[in-house]
Amino acid sequence: MTDPRRYAPSAARNRDPILAILRGVLPASGLVLEIASGTGEHIAHFARALPGLDWQPSDRDDGLFASIVAHGVDLADGNFLPPMCLDAAATDWPVARVDAIVCINMIHIAPWPACEGLMRGAGRVLPPDGVLFLYGPYKLDGRHTAESNAAFDQSLRSRNPEWGVRDLGEVTALAACHGLALAGTVAMPANNFSVVFRKS
Ligand SMILES: C[S@@+](CC[C@H](N)C(=O)[O-])C[C@H]1O[C@@H](n2cnc3c(N)ncnc32)[C@H](O)[C@@H]1O
Repeated sequence: MTDPRRYAPSAARNRDPILAILRGVLPASGLVLEIASGTGEHIAHFARALPGLDWQPSDRDDGLFASIVAHGVDLADGNFLPPMCLDAAATDWPVARVDAIVCINMIHIAPWPACEGLMRGAGRVLPPDGVLFLYGPYKLDGRHTAESNAAFDQSLRSRNPEWGVRDLGEVTALAACHGLALAGTVAMPANNFSVVFRKS
């Protein structure tokens, strides 16, 4: 039988550096929603490492669900919930309340309305002090932080003119409109950033 698990090469490299940040910002217990789970590698890794939390995978593309389920199959009776179809850009999400949200490598590989929807939804479903964690490349003050990010931005825009590396200031301003204050940024390997917002 074919193995349904898919792999993104970057996930194996960045999952532990991301986990190290998550350990410092997530609550000890509660429900964590991952938006844009992709292959499911990240959330299965985090669910194994942080068993006090319940982990809800999601993606807009339900063709990824078999991979997500397969990556978390050893956790299926525990803290790893079945994936749900969630389009970040949608005005309605299939969840009413979560304790934290994690979104890795989505907002630059989706049109800007996905980021708008992410902030709107996070502002609605997070409790006071709830964390929205983002990971990916960002421009700072309108400038790329590395040549490789500028080249990546070009390649994204050539694939879809609505995609592209976002400016951290613009993302932060949008977040503030939904009651999410920037709580910290951490420079990560390969010219990426972890960005933490907290609901006021
Ligand atoms: C580059 S992949 C990142 C996957 C995974 N987070 C990772 O870092 O390996 C981008 C993911 O975003 C998802 N995506 C794109 N637009 C979305 C949207 N509006 N809502 C939810 N997921 C979306 C895609 O289906 C894809 O799984």
